[in-house]
Amino acid sequence: MSKVITVALSAACALALVGAGALASAVGIPPQSSGLTAEQIIAARQASFDMSVMTMTELKIAVRDGTDVKKQFYPATTLTRWAKVLPTLFPAGTGAGETALDTHAKTEIWTDRAGFAKAAIDYAAAADRLSALAQAGDAEGFKEQLAVVEKTCDACHATYKAK
Ligand code: HEC
Repeated sequence: MSKVITVALSAACALALVGAGALASAVGIPPQSSGLTAEQIIAARQASFDMSVMTMTELKIAVRDGTDVKKQFYPATTLTRWAKVLPTLFPAGTGAGETALDTHAKTEIWTDRAGFAKAAIDYAAAADRLSALAQAGDAEGFKEQLAVVEKTCDACHATYKAK
């Protein structure tokens, strides 16, 4: 009987470890090398950030105009999906002065990788909650959460993005 419990417990522990591994790989710690050039990676992340600000604008307009927040589930979810992979687009070798491209990525992204990953996790969690509120059709909660999401953008920029 106790053997059964031990087996069940180690299976549960293994599952917890798989979960932690999936999270670590989703946030990309440590930075992985890829087949893309440094310039392609920088261009991809900057385009994603530009689309993020456009998505935020769409969400703010929806709040301002009082349209059904359920329709904002899709854009809110795209922010979450991006937030989860954001750190993977900051591998070593893509910092300022390392390529011919301009980048506002600060060196703290690489010297404080855990802090940078945490900023992305906070962003993903805030955007995920926004999706849930959109799905629930909670207009008031959605409005408040949108401000929380924006704070996670600003918090990361304050430490990891050059002006
Ligand atoms: C975990 C950190 C982090 C979070 C969270 C974050 N950003 Fe950024 N953002 C950066 C960094 C770093 C850069 C600089 C990238 C570069 O130039 O290579 C950047 C650049 C940008 C840019 C300029 C892109 C360009 O074309 O050069 C915009 C716009 C932007 N972010 C908007 C946002 C918005 C809107 C959010 C939230 C919805 C957000 N960011 C969340 C780190 C973050």
